[in-house]
Amino acid sequence: MNVELIDIHKHFGSVRANSGIDLKILPGTIHGILGENGAGKSTLMKVLAGFIPKTRGTILLDGSEVGYSSPEGALRHGIGMLYQDPLDFPPLSVLENFMAGQVRGATMGTEVHRARLLELCTGLGFKLDPDVPAGRLTVGERQQLELARLLSSGARVLILDEPTTGISGLQKEVLFSALKSIARGGRSIVLVSHKLEDIEALCDEITVLREGIVTGTMERPFSTQALLSMMFGSEPSPAIRSGHEPGAQALYLDNVSAPGGRAGLAECTVHVSRGEVIGLAGLEGSGQEVFLRIAAGLIRPHRGRVHVGRRDMTGRGYHAFQSLGVAFQPASRLEEGLIRGLTVTEHCALGEGGGQFMVQWDTAEQDARDKIRKFQVAGTPDSPVESLSGGNQQRLLLAFLPEEPELLLLENPTRGLDLESVHWVWDHLDAHASRGAAIVFSSSELDEILMVADRVLVFFDGHIIKDERPEDTDALALGRAIAGKM
Ligand SMILES: Nc1ncnc2c1ncn2[C@@H]1O[C@H](COP(=O)(O)OP(=O)(O)O)[C@@H](O)[C@H]1O
Ligand SMILES: [Mg+2]
Repeated sequence: MNVELIDIHKHFGSVRANSGIDLKILPGTIHGILGENGAGKSTLMKVLAGFIPKTRGTILLDGSEVGYSSPEGALRHGIGMLYQDPLDFPPLSVLENFMAGQVRGATMGTEVHRARLLELCTGLGFKLDPDVPAGRLTVGERQQLELARLLSSGARVLILDEPTTGISGLQKEVLFSALKSIARGGRSIVLVSHKLEDIEALCDEITVLREGIVTGTMERPFSTQALLSMMFGSEPSPAIRSGHEPGAQALYLDNVSAPGGRAGLAECTVHVSRGEVIGLAGLEGSGQEVFLRIAAGLIRPHRGRVHVGRRDMTGRGYHAFQSLGVAFQPASRLEEGLIRGLTVTEHCALGEGGGQFMVQWDTAEQDARDKIRKFQVAGTPDSPVESLSGGNQQRLLLAFLPEEPELLLLENPTRGLDLESVHWVWDHLDAHASRGAAIVFSSSELDEILMVADRVLVFFDGHIIKDERPEDTDALALGRAIAGKM
């Protein structure tokens, strides 16, 4: 079946997850959808699979426009999707799950389904016992079950969203060879992944998404270099780094390991000097989140030592770190940083409690007014924080940092901000660095890291695999490293 997506848009409020995507998938091919986390891949596939409605755009199947509003509706047209989290019912047996939701053959007896399941499994190289509860299957086996179910339900286009996450190397081989044989039979496979090596290994054609748009397509033979530049962009950016002279030690992690995140953090040794600006690059969950929280005293490492300044702070908590001038700002402005439903004044009252029992509302409101003026926040003391735009929430958060921090730990400090706000934030942070504060920040924008950092640390799978100066690297080399291709 020919699939054609024309000018697909999908907005979530002000977030434009897809902005005008065109895509063609030919029958009998494996088509890769490649892109960094947040590029809009899952959104596009959920639209194609009827899981979420599109904002606008057209879907053509074999040249005719179709409209459906549910996964079942899409499956009736031959489009089936395997989600990142399998949708099976753990208490039911493999066979019962296989039969559940079958569009076709609802009236056939159990034995017919059993025979069909076994036949499909044999053909695809899957080893599933029809009678065990689905809850006992591994992630890879649940995928196999779902693939068999979709095929048996008449799927002619199979979409797999990040299918190699959480499965073993052996299961990946089984999966890939099954997908090849399905495609050889004339069906199409759409493989969604941020893992370049998986996509390159399996696909006939690749479409790359970045920030909600298609940045390129490519057929075999692939050029890794070209794919990386489509994924991460490669426009050279002018350096706005002010090149601080590093001073005394601000932070020293000595062979630190910790659980947490997807990968935790393993055997990490890093020195940070006063006045240094350090960018952390890596796919989400590669260890940079854990690194920042260890440096903030929020996660205690189970091995290694943490020094702030010259003090050994291993095992101490967030408040002890704070008293040495450490300030941490998490990524999710409205979850960890700001409190939904409270106004700017109420945040000031919370922040400046100072151990008093009574809130000094006059003082808090004056404080709110001062912060709004100094940090140019478009809002009033009475504005609930969720009514502020992302850029203004970020300004407000910066306003709540201590006045003279020694070590600033910032998670994605400019995520979702327009360019003007990005520059405003960095001008502000740069002033802290010039005073001698060390700044460690994570960002998914490699261009931003190259532009503002004195050093960049690249995280992959819980390890720091690169520690470089921006002048010795570029966005392509960094992109290659964070995708696990050195
Ligand atoms: N249900 C949702 N509500 C709000 N924003 C969403 C929703 N789903 C995705 N997004 C946003 O849309 C963008 C693209 O997300 P997604 O399609 O999941 O990317 P990918 O699969 O490429 O990692 C991201 O900024 C994400 O935060
Ligand atoms: Mg996704």
